[in-house]
Amino acid sequence: MNTYDLIVIGGGPAGYNAAERAAHGGLKTLLFEKRALGGVCLNEGCIPSKALLNSVKIYNYARHSAVYGVTTTGAKLDHKAVVARKDKVVSRLTGGVAAKLKKCGVTVITAEASLKQKTSTGFTITASSIDYTSKFLLVCVGSEAIVPPIPGAAEGVKSGFVMTNREILALQTLPKRLAVIGGGVIGLEMAEYFAGAGAEVRVIEMLDKIAGPTEKEISSILMSELEKAGIAFTLSAKVTAVGNGSVTFEKDGKSETWACDKVLMSVGRRPSAAGLNLEAAGVAMERGAVLTDECLRTNVPGLYAAGDVNGKSMLAHTAYREGEVAVNHMLGKRDVMRYNAIGSVIYTHPEVACAGETLESARAKGIDARCVTLPMMYSGRYMAENEGGSGICKVVTDAGSNRVIGVHMIGSYASEIIYGASLMIETEYNISDLRELVFPHPTCGEVIREALFEL
Ligand code: NAI
Repeated sequence: MNTYDLIVIGGGPAGYNAAERAAHGGLKTLLFEKRALGGVCLNEGCIPSKALLNSVKIYNYARHSAVYGVTTTGAKLDHKAVVARKDKVVSRLTGGVAAKLKKCGVTVITAEASLKQKTSTGFTITASSIDYTSKFLLVCVGSEAIVPPIPGAAEGVKSGFVMTNREILALQTLPKRLAVIGGGVIGLEMAEYFAGAGAEVRVIEMLDKIAGPTEKEISSILMSELEKAGIAFTLSAKVTAVGNGSVTFEKDGKSETWACDKVLMSVGRRPSAAGLNLEAAGVAMERGAVLTDECLRTNVPGLYAAGDVNGKSMLAHTAYREGEVAVNHMLGKRDVMRYNAIGSVIYTHPEVACAGETLESARAKGIDARCVTLPMMYSGRYMAENEGGSGICKVVTDAGSNRVIGVHMIGSYASEIIYGASLMIETEYNISDLRELVFPHPTCGEVIREALFEL
């Protein structure tokens, strides 16, 4: 009775999507989730942060509308109401996932599961002292926020002074002064919301630029736009202590202290397979990540890992696709995971979206790369809708193959445009073919078409 074709551990984007695909493919599927269906993405990441950012976008439009000939008075952002709406969005979406899994016949158990043993026919999994067996096992247990060994950080997490993405998204009261340690995706998105909502926000970043691997000109435009929105940045700084209502950091050899009532720790995430007992099957791991191949197989036959736990790309949309590839492999279908065209987005205002190589990364690989940079103002729609907008679009090509190998944008709708760039990279059409594509007019995406003719 407790025997399945597939057991999935973890109900985030990788796990719930894989379970659904597996059930549709005829596999008797069981999914274990220890917290809430939807994982970090739906409950404490992608979706709730987008709800918050949308509220602050509306608020900012209202406050800065005069330039568009619209006068508003009395615009207010009610943080508690914003959080309540965010919670409603989250519960509708997680409810939707539960309903979908039920409809396609996936058994869902809310419990923490771990591997008991690998058997000659598959796997034995234990949860709440009950054993379950399966032919295939798919591990999708995600990642956890890194809390570095900075003096006071661990104590701060316990006391509530230091927050990770989980706690900050549930915060009911606006902090007056918020220190953000780490100017990556989470740090910047949260800094944007809280600064817009009225907090004094300072981002303290170890490197000399924000937004991690983002193309450097785009990263610098983003920083100046966020500064205009009131966020203060301290770059090339090392945080040396956290606690007693302040953050202490070293910059240019000098120690400085910034008083604040809350700290967001957003210095990255790491795979979290601890406690699963994967060592019982001899699963190969590296720095906490489960090693996988292009079919999401581990070194143990029948055992797959998808999503953040394999540490490869750590994005929800990568996780979806990885879960699918794993299931397709189990079903005997030919499918492989490709990572070279996956878009990444920072949902700040303006939005940043990138896919593929930058000029620098391409040249470092020995590619004869070219890059065209156009202001987003080349798009009539962008011009009409963005007074004083500073957005740009960069299209990187391989002169040898005459193909697009990267697109990097900052400006409106970049998040919605970037999949077109991913398609150009994945399909490997050459530039002459791409020039024949008719883009709707006027749209911000037309800037990519313009760039193709500048090459
Ligand atoms: P991140 O890796 O994006 O950025 C971390 C930043 O912290 C880096 O700039 C790094 O240089 C800096 N840093 C590291 N140690 C530091 C220290 N001790 N002091 C100061 N700065 C330090 O990590 P983040 O923002 O925590 O995001 C985690 C994951 O969540 C990422 O993998 C990201 O892809 C994913 N995510 C994706 C989103 C999206 O697609 N829009 C939104 C939010 C998260």
